[in-house]
Amino acid sequence: MVQKITCIGAGFVGGPLGTVLAFCCPEISVTVVDKNAARIESWNSDDLPMYEPGLSDIIAQVRQRKDACNLSFSCEIRKAIVESDIIMLCIDTPTKNHGAGSGMALDLAHIQEAVRTIGEVATADKIIVEKSTVPGGTTSIIQDLLEAVSTGTYNFEVLSNPEFLSEGSAVNDLLHPSRVIIGCQRTTSGQLAAEKLAAVYRRWTPHELIITMNQWSAELSKLASNALLAQRISSINSLSAICEAVGADINSVAEACGTDPRIGNKMLQSGLGWGGSCFPKDVAALIYLARSLGLNSVADYWAVVLEMNEDQQSRFAKRILSCMHGCINGKLITILGFAFKQNTSDTKNSPSKNLARELLREGATIHIYDPMVSEAQIYRDVNASDEQSRRLRIFSTAGEACAGADAVVVATEWDQFKTPDICQAPYETNVAVGTNGMHTKDIQNNGAHHEHETGGIDWASIVDNMYRPAFIFDGRNILNAQYLESLGCRYVGIGHLSKWDRQHHGIFAMAPKLYGMI
Ligand code: UDX
Repeated sequence: MVQKITCIGAGFVGGPLGTVLAFCCPEISVTVVDKNAARIESWNSDDLPMYEPGLSDIIAQVRQRKDACNLSFSCEIRKAIVESDIIMLCIDTPTKNHGAGSGMALDLAHIQEAVRTIGEVATADKIIVEKSTVPGGTTSIIQDLLEAVSTGTYNFEVLSNPEFLSEGSAVNDLLHPSRVIIGCQRTTSGQLAAEKLAAVYRRWTPHELIITMNQWSAELSKLASNALLAQRISSINSLSAICEAVGADINSVAEACGTDPRIGNKMLQSGLGWGGSCFPKDVAALIYLARSLGLNSVADYWAVVLEMNEDQQSRFAKRILSCMHGCINGKLITILGFAFKQNTSDTKNSPSKNLARELLREGATIHIYDPMVSEAQIYRDVNASDEQSRRLRIFSTAGEACAGADAVVVATEWDQFKTPDICQAPYETNVAVGTNGMHTKDIQNNGAHHEHETGGIDWASIVDNMYRPAFIFDGRNILNAQYLESLGCRYVGIGHLSKWDRQHHGIFAMAPKLYGMI
């Protein structure tokens, strides 16, 4: 019977995982440990180190158990290891930035350090569960390290149990996993360990969703799942370029393909490209794995998925430039959204970062607003030069960030940025041109402003306060072109041509060539 579980690493995986384990298994004591004291302090406060919908609620519910509270966050790593039956490795495995495999391979230094500590301090048999994304074969490395540093003759069973949660829906994904993969040795003790872990998950997960396999298969499943998902998005984004060139609509194409049940409609949203902690590093790790196995055509195949993602981002930046008459020097461009996707404060590999840098390099002044990302984080990420910093400002409301802008770019699919759907609700638009070149408008929808109904930003007032011509670039295809055009702006999305695009396509499609950009 499992009595105590420790999660090593209080990051995006360990924190939510430990919380959900404690929530679903009141009789198991769960400790989340980390050597970063500030992060642990934050977990122990009301100001959690990350934003995840529902997370603070379930932490509060577990804490309400008072004396029976079975969740703790601590820096006492050694103590937690000694006391635990199961130790879950939730440690970051960033892409290596030095030496062999730099920029591609996963860096296992932190994992190996934690494994050494487990081997050194363990005074009984332990089950070690690899939750972090690792290159295949890591369970054998962990096993070897544990046995080499251990001072006793304890049985260490290493399981691979990759975590498939997505940021922004971590709690829901942990409470309702699509599957739980457990990779174990095909020995009696390996299978017993897998069964112990499966029994923990069965407390809230239907047993048919728990799948066991060998360790290599489990490890590869994680890289493969993320690579396949990233490939889908790169595929739809590649088609979006064709749509823009020929006048087709990527949303229709995605719908047509997605309604085939063999393809399915998920992860087919065309946009600025994928970011985050997992897709970029896992695709790179798969490429590196294939390359190191001498499978060059396999490596080349996955490398194109990565390239397509980078290409999508620079293509969009070029499109902004060409639509704005090939010159954004001295113009004000507002970027709405800095997180790599909605419902998270994470900015890792966010397409907004590259976009902001590229637009700054072109001489634009950049205003940025994101509902969750801190000002300090944005400044750190953009990493602007002294000269560029004078052209970069972060705002705490979308309205202020967009005031006086020449263009607004939606870079993250936050719900609050979405426009009201005007399909069933006709709008009346009266546009009056002000003396400063700005427009004042009166957008009505049966007397009600949609912003108040949707809780979203007030696009009418944003467009009203922009310079003319006012451009809205929709990097996530979440805006209603017809509605925005009714406000008097020029709408440009990804993978489809708006009314304005169609009118000017012939002329401005030539702009990148004219300005020597391609
Ligand atoms: C991903 C996997 O989904 C998850 O299973 C794995 O455990 C970790 O990696 P995550 O990185 O949190 O999760 O985000 P996800 O929702 O998959 O989105 C990744 C990126 O793709 C985001 O930048 C998002 O904006 C983009 N995306 C997603 C698209 O561009 N189009 C889509 O249709 C879906």
